[in-house]
Amino acid sequence: MKSKFKILLTRKIHDFALKELRKKYDITIHYGKIPMPKKTLMKKIQNKDGLICFPYDMIDSDVIKAGKKLRCISTYSVGFDHIDVLYAKKKKIKIGYTPDVLTNATAELTITLILDLLRRATEGDRLIRKGAWKQIFGPYDYVGTEVSGKTLGILGMGRIGQSVAKKATGLGMNVLYYNRKRILKKTEVVLKSKYVSLNELFKRSDVLTIHIPYSKNTHHLIDSSKLGKMKKTAFLINTSRGKIINQKNLIDSLVQKRIQGAALDVFEEEPIKKTNKLSRLENVVLLPHIGSSTHETRWTMADITVKNLILGLNHKKPIYSV
Ligand code: DGY
Repeated sequence: MKSKFKILLTRKIHDFALKELRKKYDITIHYGKIPMPKKTLMKKIQNKDGLICFPYDMIDSDVIKAGKKLRCISTYSVGFDHIDVLYAKKKKIKIGYTPDVLTNATAELTITLILDLLRRATEGDRLIRKGAWKQIFGPYDYVGTEVSGKTLGILGMGRIGQSVAKKATGLGMNVLYYNRKRILKKTEVVLKSKYVSLNELFKRSDVLTIHIPYSKNTHHLIDSSKLGKMKKTAFLINTSRGKIINQKNLIDSLVQKRIQGAALDVFEEEPIKKTNKLSRLENVVLLPHIGSSTHETRWTMADITVKNLILGLNHKKPIYSV
């Protein structure tokens, strides 16, 4: 009898997906420390044919080299900056990921953050919980910024950027965007979005939102020089990857009120420490990396992750292939 493929999961996923995997494969799930320590990962992967991993697992060339039998890496994420793709390709390992299915969830969260930050919703919640709401309806109390009529700058007009554009125009925002490659004119018309240079995007946006992938080219792309181009009244939103922003530079800009505020779902280091300066600033909203975290999306991500893995193990192209 042909022996079953051996699969390593760096953490438990949804029961329905595990059931599917158990029917076909011999599976090992890591239940310990998250992320799985590199040494453990390198040891456990040695005899595995497939790997299911997450955006915080560093699947570098050491790990891939250790997985001598690896046929497929299936990541439960749209981002694949944690995988040494070139090296895996050299080893003829298939890589699956989960784009599309999380576009709407991430775009919805971006809009949530824009509204929250500009209308100071979370700030008001924090104030009430501290018992600091002393008087009602003061004409200048807790005054926020109206979203409608403001200019939204979208950095990265891929799937998520486009979904944000669609929703933002529904809120009455004017949309500018910058992308390495300009999108089709007819898509610009549908999305009511205007292409501008990167420089202009930073200068003209009232709200700037980031939707580009992380790579060594985008590492700290947003630093004090870019932040310095923004309006003093502008807000920065990040639901992509933390390391695209130089966090220290951002904190300085926020403290010195060189920009008005920021809302972040992603950070240079995750989870961020309680002592992180960001959590002491009133003009920021912080979320624990929940861009794709809806029942609908997470379920579908699990489904796609398993389907990608099955295809890759059988030397077929995953549904979503890197
Ligand atoms: C991803 O899938 O890469 C996202 O960061 C999850 O929210």
